[in-house]
Amino acid sequence: MADPRTEAARRRTFAIISHPDAGKTTLTEKFLLYGGALGKEAGSVKARQGRRSATSDWMELEQQRGISITSTVLQFEYRDCVINLLDTPGHRDFSEDTYRVLVAADAAIMVLDAAKGIEPQTLKLFEVCREREIPFLTFINKWDRPGKAPLELLDEIEETLVVEPTPVTWPVGIPGDFRGVIHRGTGIYTRFERTARGSTIAPEEEVEAAEAEASDGEWWLAAKEEVELLDEVGRGVDVKTFLAGESTPLFFGSALTNFGVRFLLDGVVDLVPPPAPRRLADGSRRALDAPFSGLVFKVQAGMDKAHRDRIAFVRVCSGRFERGITAVAERTKRQFSTKYAQAMFGQDRDTADEAYPGDVLGLVNANDLRVGDAVYVDEPASFPPLPAFAPEHFMRARVKDTSKFKQFRKGVAQLDEEGAIQVLREEDLGDQAPVLAAVGPMQFEVATYRLENEFGAPIELTATPYTIARKTDSESASRLNAMQGVAVMSRDDGTQLALFESKYWMDRVLADHPELTLDRMIAEGGLN
Ligand code: G4P
Repeated sequence: MADPRTEAARRRTFAIISHPDAGKTTLTEKFLLYGGALGKEAGSVKARQGRRSATSDWMELEQQRGISITSTVLQFEYRDCVINLLDTPGHRDFSEDTYRVLVAADAAIMVLDAAKGIEPQTLKLFEVCREREIPFLTFINKWDRPGKAPLELLDEIEETLVVEPTPVTWPVGIPGDFRGVIHRGTGIYTRFERTARGSTIAPEEEVEAAEAEASDGEWWLAAKEEVELLDEVGRGVDVKTFLAGESTPLFFGSALTNFGVRFLLDGVVDLVPPPAPRRLADGSRRALDAPFSGLVFKVQAGMDKAHRDRIAFVRVCSGRFERGITAVAERTKRQFSTKYAQAMFGQDRDTADEAYPGDVLGLVNANDLRVGDAVYVDEPASFPPLPAFAPEHFMRARVKDTSKFKQFRKGVAQLDEEGAIQVLREEDLGDQAPVLAAVGPMQFEVATYRLENEFGAPIELTATPYTIARKTDSESASRLNAMQGVAVMSRDDGTQLALFESKYWMDRVLADHPELTLDRMIAEGGLN
């Protein structure tokens, strides 16, 4: 039986964040190509996408909107490592989901389009990364096309994100005429060759300096000079600042033509930290070789219309998971069977027989589990609570056809448990007309669509006057409720939120009553 510590040491678990269209899907596919998980040809991730939307009405919405909402996990082997790539939603309205995925990841890759640099949604997702204090690599994609100059991109990253970019590779050739990269660590110039639409691994050739000068002339000399300049100012990869999120190792490439993809994947293996002992709620850490424990970071129902099941995605934090073991859900202390555990590979489900720290399991119909929960065997584990994002959009929901009230209540509870939207209740209106609170308005569309299509309960949403929320407590709640322009509502987990009509009004209330409890929530004002 393998030692969980040895297995953990060869895991690399990370997520990709990017503005839509920067190339996340293409890069994911190329990782699989280089990891040997696609056979010899790329092209099947897109095919998978097609099938995915065909099999599930839930995915239909994604397709209509051209966005990715659901998270999937891909696993493949590269060098001696097991790579777990977690997918994140690309849209900022789902940044709370992105945060939860990052809780399950040990690092992120930020993909930028060479012509566009840092785009609005990259910035928002990056803020989520920073909030989570997660180290990240940067991939400058689409170098095969005209784009910004490399030094300009470095400045942009440094100024906008206040993070020091430390290039691992440096491009030879201008954007649009991309020849290869110099690896700054080894000084070796690798020239790439294009293949038809990049469907196979790009042939590479290591080129001697004299030959490079002859064949790539001024581009080679310019790149060499820039590399020397970078060396002089000390822009080398620094593991300590990388792990602290203060610097980001940077790679140039083109996912479409596969140029530079291998270097990035090598960067994942060499730089992404392997799973470490996870911090528990009491501040101690759970050793990697302690009995099995895992963190639920995503719950998703209705992924497959034929099954209508509910999957809890669990990141393994310690020990060896073995299918069939009986685990305990920490919040309810109830036992459940893991007979139907699945390893996730896109939408395909393979049975997971075993898993180690860093891996992700899909637990099917583990109905007790909610986002943030711990599961374990033998020794209890409990993880620090996940912070809730500050909702900034509030709509009241009512079922259109009152004979469907039961379905409505069930559906709302389900969305709440998944964390797809926050559900708030007032004492008098209770379940009849809960307030749905969202970080981004697209969450309402998803909730409406799902309540109608998955639960058969079409809803009507009406506007509320609220625009900002703060966490409060029972003592402050009764006083706040007596004020105008404030309403206190509760979440199912007991958290009380005070909703205000405007920030101005909230600031006034706070100024007049500084003794009231009004705690800020994560990403307040920063992410929308
Ligand atoms: P996303 O998941 O981040 O949203 O981006 P995706 O990979 O879907 O890529 C968006 C578009 O950018 C796609 O073009 C893709 O082919 C293209 N692309 C990705 N990487 C590169 C690259 O390195 N160079 C160039 N030139 N293009 C790249 P599309 O026209 O939307 O789709 P398709 O018809 O090409 O598949």
